[in-house]
Amino acid sequence: MCGIVAYIGKKEAYPIIVKGLKRLEYRGYDSAGVALLNNGDLNIYKKQGKVANLEEHAADKNRSGHAGIGHTRWATHGAPNDVNAHPHYSEDCNIALIHNGIIENYDAIKQRLVGNGYIFKSETDTEVLTYLVDDIHKNAGVSVAEAVRLALQQVVGAYAIVVISKDNPDQLIAARKSSPLVLGIGKDNDFFLASDATPIVEYTKKVVYMEDEEIAIVDLNEGLKLYSIDEVEKTPYVQELELQLEALEKGGYEHFMLKEIHEQPRSIKDCFRGRLNAEEGWVSLGGIKDYEEKMIKANRIIMIASGTSWHAGLVGEYLFEDLARINVEVEYASEFRYRNPIITENDIVIAISQSGETADTLAALELAKSKGATILGICNVVGSSISRITDAGSYTHAGPEIGVASTKAFTAQVTVLTLMALSLAKRKGTISETKFRTMLSELEAIPQKVQQILDKNEEIKIISEKYQDASNALYLGRGSSFPVALEGALKLKEISYIHAEGYPAAEMKHGPIALIDEEMPVFVIATSGTSYEKVVSNIQEVKARKGKLIAIVTEGDDQVDNIADHTIEIPDTDEHLVPLLATIPFQLLSYHIAVMRECNVDQPRNLAKSVTVE
Ligand code: G6P
Repeated sequence: MCGIVAYIGKKEAYPIIVKGLKRLEYRGYDSAGVALLNNGDLNIYKKQGKVANLEEHAADKNRSGHAGIGHTRWATHGAPNDVNAHPHYSEDCNIALIHNGIIENYDAIKQRLVGNGYIFKSETDTEVLTYLVDDIHKNAGVSVAEAVRLALQQVVGAYAIVVISKDNPDQLIAARKSSPLVLGIGKDNDFFLASDATPIVEYTKKVVYMEDEEIAIVDLNEGLKLYSIDEVEKTPYVQELELQLEALEKGGYEHFMLKEIHEQPRSIKDCFRGRLNAEEGWVSLGGIKDYEEKMIKANRIIMIASGTSWHAGLVGEYLFEDLARINVEVEYASEFRYRNPIITENDIVIAISQSGETADTLAALELAKSKGATILGICNVVGSSISRITDAGSYTHAGPEIGVASTKAFTAQVTVLTLMALSLAKRKGTISETKFRTMLSELEAIPQKVQQILDKNEEIKIISEKYQDASNALYLGRGSSFPVALEGALKLKEISYIHAEGYPAAEMKHGPIALIDEEMPVFVIATSGTSYEKVVSNIQEVKARKGKLIAIVTEGDDQVDNIADHTIEIPDTDEHLVPLLATIPFQLLSYHIAVMRECNVDQPRNLAKSVTVE
């Protein structure tokens, strides 16, 4: 993970870098650091903890300079402390380097460098790369840029790096492989580099998404030059950013997570805008249209994802199988890739990823591609690595999600999966015209129903108060509400650090029931539909053990209301669409409980939003 930002131009680099690092803190916040070139000096400041700690540390120091690099770290090699913080630099302080990724063969390179007399200060793989560049620069007598290129040829692993050196104060050298890097071309002959476009957007909309094994040299005199790692010059593909600055700010909310929860009526609408028309009775996902026939005829569809996106995949499985009668398997990307999976050319693999950068998901996709499968993507971040390597796909259009715990990205993923399932079902003839049209109207009504649930925020907050001191919680659901239970439990543990487990309601009898006592909150999705009566029986089992029961029910329900300690009503909808509604109260409950426990809601401990390490 880790976030990197760099600037070179006429402006002061420090404020641009620090602001950019704050935008990238979702990628990790174990430590932060900067290196600034100023009148022949390379000033390096680094500090354990958040960017705010770095600011405090650098407050009384020289922060001038028109070229600089900055880093916010999620620790992989070495503890999160000042020494392991980036930038790393050569002993003579000529070269400084920031890195996102993992150098897998760092130990072998390190032993060689120790043999050459290098003494290492940190435990990081990044310092090894820095010394390697320095070693080549000095011993081969080549420029720093050339030394970077030669060093990267020796490296196995993933990297996005930016290098600055006193030798060439007008130049930054950047390169990437498997970790993302965006280059911004400023209006004022200045250049920006960052892990994503958010630190760049307020200065320029002209960007180049760097490709794997590309090296960029930005030079104030010679402009931008792009090369492949084997020295072939390439023409940069300059794109216009669509990102809006307001989308990156809290807009009056106390936390990004709360803002993102409240954005869902809009983000769900944005997701189906132009893709569905209930009145005319059609649904169309332009991005995958040409692949629909193949999807229908495929052996099976494999959905691969991690975290919350995996939960969206599980909802997708119910939708595809029930509506379009297509065989679906949902896999954790990290497990799939190491299992020697049987994949054929008749398989379709769909990667689901908010960031489009999750290392395991990317690697699993590459594996599937190498075996001849068609690979599709459902991503939120436009231009992300997954969206670029897939044959086709559909964006979720949820807008930037900054809170580490995913909320609006999940409902947008489920919306895209619903649209896909409906489109495939229609084409395949597995859905009646009446059912199809009803579902389209129901889907169109979802944003307004989500709003109705959000309007119950105060009621949900009062319920949250009662459970803020819980140490364990159980979430139960059946059918497509089971993944909602998993997602509810994940939200609670991620941000409030309360241990929580999601279970299929009927499976509770096979273990978790042993945990239930009068202290244990049990959250159940008991909305009307096929398994309603069965869930009511499970609820009775919980109450018989004196568990505290919080049930999500359909408006007008009184059966569960008589048994449960609390009920939260959600509007009635088609059973297939319940996940889009039932997940909202769980998001709010977790949010309020975390705030009451004084947890850092947007940046929970040890987590990062974009997991670019395996
Ligand atoms: C991290 C984030 C989760 C996210 C998961 C998968 O764990 O904290 O919110 O669901 O990665 O990320 P992706 O970007 O692939 O959806």
